[in-house]
Amino acid sequence: MRLDFVTIFPDYFAPLELSLLGKARENGLLDVRVHDLRGWTDDVHRTVDDSPYGGGPGMIMKPEPWGRALTDLSGQSAAVHRAASSDVPERPRVIILTPAGRPFDQAYAQDLAASPWLIFCCGRYEGLDARVGESWGDDEISIGDYVLAGGEVAALVIVEAVVRLLPGVLGNAESALDDSFSHGLLEAPAYTRPPEWEGLLVPAVLRSGDHGAISRWRTEQSHKRTRDTRPDLLPDDA
Ligand code: 6GU
Repeated sequence: MRLDFVTIFPDYFAPLELSLLGKARENGLLDVRVHDLRGWTDDVHRTVDDSPYGGGPGMIMKPEPWGRALTDLSGQSAAVHRAASSDVPERPRVIILTPAGRPFDQAYAQDLAASPWLIFCCGRYEGLDARVGESWGDDEISIGDYVLAGGEVAALVIVEAVVRLLPGVLGNAESALDDSFSHGLLEAPAYTRPPEWEGLLVPAVLRSGDHGAISRWRTEQSHKRTRDTRPDLLPDDA
């Protein structure tokens, strides 16, 4: 999978070298490229923002540097990008990070994991001129109901959720299957050694060796945990 990030703060993407993402890159599963939007400005001050039409606080990111960046990276004009079907393999999926976007969740991560090429447009200030989304945006995504100072951290959140779903990235091929949310429920609590710690015991069933009983206990715990902390995940808040 190829991942491009366009940002005025390339340093935000240092974590892409680490851990699971770093290993996926070393193993050739990921081709990651981070780009400074200011490289596509054309004035001596490398201006990326301007005041909003209609008034209001803050600044808006000018569309021209974004248009040049996306044309260069995709090798296509906006018109060709818009016209090309999403299953053309050399066509990138252009993602704009914005608190006004569609909420990100595990199903959305699975959908993105099927794309061979994602371009993340990370806005700052009060966001991008809306025409960038109109001409280039395949997706506008929010990672939750709060406002961040920019899209960089949101892009990292999305990438971390997506990359661990790619074949060959997780050591144990099963371990993405059992996660919280993959069955629409939260995962059961997990324990390791020692069997007693700070006066607290590991539930006896987990040490019983009875795999049927363990599986039933985990299902029951999943339901209980979901009911207690995320009743919104259950059908009609049951
Ligand atoms: Cl994607 N961007 C910003 N700036 N704030 C957010 C967000 C994204 N998702 C939630 N809050």
